[in-house]
Amino acid sequence: MSEKIIAGNWKMNKNRNEALDLVSSVLQDLPDTSTKVIFAPPYLYLEEVARMCADFSNVKVAAQNCSHFDKGAYTGEISAQMIASVNADMVIIGHSERREYFGEEELILSEKVNKALKYNLQPIYCVGESLDQRKAEEHFDIIENQIAKALFHLDEENMKKVVIAYEPVWAIGTGETATPEQAQKIHAFIRKLLTDQYGEEIAKSISILYGGSCKPANAQGLFAQQDIDGGLIGGASLVAEDFVKLIEMRS
Ligand code: 13P
Repeated sequence: MSEKIIAGNWKMNKNRNEALDLVSSVLQDLPDTSTKVIFAPPYLYLEEVARMCADFSNVKVAAQNCSHFDKGAYTGEISAQMIASVNADMVIIGHSERREYFGEEELILSEKVNKALKYNLQPIYCVGESLDQRKAEEHFDIIENQIAKALFHLDEENMKKVVIAYEPVWAIGTGETATPEQAQKIHAFIRKLLTDQYGEEIAKSISILYGGSCKPANAQGLFAQQDIDGGLIGGASLVAEDFVKLIEMRS
């Protein structure tokens, strides 16, 4: 069975004090739950956040990106090995903001996935179509392409470690959410792609998260869908009360 997950992608927000305050507040009010809770703070705070979360077995820490290189003369880059060495557990790969503003494409993203797995980091691989692509009814093809090119070289053991997040670009930070039915359609499609490639057992074990303006006011309908295992939350993960509420709703 796939795990239930609520992950908070903070993006480039919060100074150090604000970051630590947010984590303390969430941990203080953490519901008693087996739902996996993930904090994805900026790199700088990973080590400290991981230390704060160490006693909570269901709370994990993720980086928001990693280099596709192993190590060496790549000024400004952070490697998967470095991330693992400060006790982070996971890494977000292929977020649409990385694709759009930093030109990351599937070839590089598949390398990032490999690097993450090499150093025992669980990848959270993001996919999603733009508004133009949806209007042109290309969304299924886009998503199939994003998944097949960056993930389908993996063997079964590695594929089982991957979490997939469907984040329609038109719903990120816009206040506009996919309807539960729209999201479920894509999640079921992703599950089918996984089933065709890896078989039903593995497909059912992989968590598929929804992301894009997901907040307490609209999460209930989304989380009720059969193939939506949880959320990758942006804005609402920056407010302790909202993030805790979302964890409660997914528990
Ligand atoms: P918002 O929840 O702010 O729309 O962001 C979603 C997202 O991009 C999470 O990775």
